[in-house]
Amino acid sequence: MNPSPPLALAVLISGRGSNMLAILRACLARTLHAEVALVVADRAEAAGIRSAAELGAPTATVIPRAQEEFETELAQLLDARQPQIIALAGFMRLLSPGFVTRYLGRMLNVHPSLLPAYRGLHTHRRVLAAGERVHGASVHYVTPELDAGPVVLQSQVAVRPDDTEALLSQRVLATEHVIYPRVLGWLADGRLAWRDGAPHLDGARLAEPLIEDFRRAPG
Ligand code: GAR
Repeated sequence: MNPSPPLALAVLISGRGSNMLAILRACLARTLHAEVALVVADRAEAAGIRSAAELGAPTATVIPRAQEEFETELAQLLDARQPQIIALAGFMRLLSPGFVTRYLGRMLNVHPSLLPAYRGLHTHRRVLAAGERVHGASVHYVTPELDAGPVVLQSQVAVRPDDTEALLSQRVLATEHVIYPRVLGWLADGRLAWRDGAPHLDGARLAEPLIEDFRRAPG
């Protein structure tokens, strides 16, 4: 039993929110010593908002307009809940350097590739087109440059000869649901911290990402 208060999380989504649900369910099951203080979507039709509300999480929607106005409203919502960590989970809107800097060291993201390879969109399609044998996902701190912040943990997934974009994305997504709650758990347990502009795990600066190998996992 962890005697410290649960880590307060805000989770930002744009769509189905399966990563957010994996995090929320881990909190509810108490396998992650954290509490989802707020789920925010930038699209009114984001299916994840309804799922989050059904599981009892506070939710909000901020509809994009001018970037500055959007970010001001988002920051107000976040600051009212005082989350210790902001988890981007399929949040598909670019955030300005000013916004990112405001939450530097407190904002993480999950990206469907083995960063620094395949930043940006359509990662699975590009991995297949390039004939890669190994793919995966990365949980990383968010810094002003897109998909370029320090990576904490990556999942490795085999690319199979008969893979399609849908099959591969599904297999990678299943690993995201494991590694994202895992990293948040390290934060909740005080093992992971952002110090002097870099992640530290168990007191030592993380020089390179940790790898979790799912290549032999069934499914
Ligand atoms: C996930 O695969 C996540 O890695 C990706 O969007 C999907 C969201 O799924 N994020 C990005 O591509 C960010 N650049 P979800 O809404 O079911 O969690």
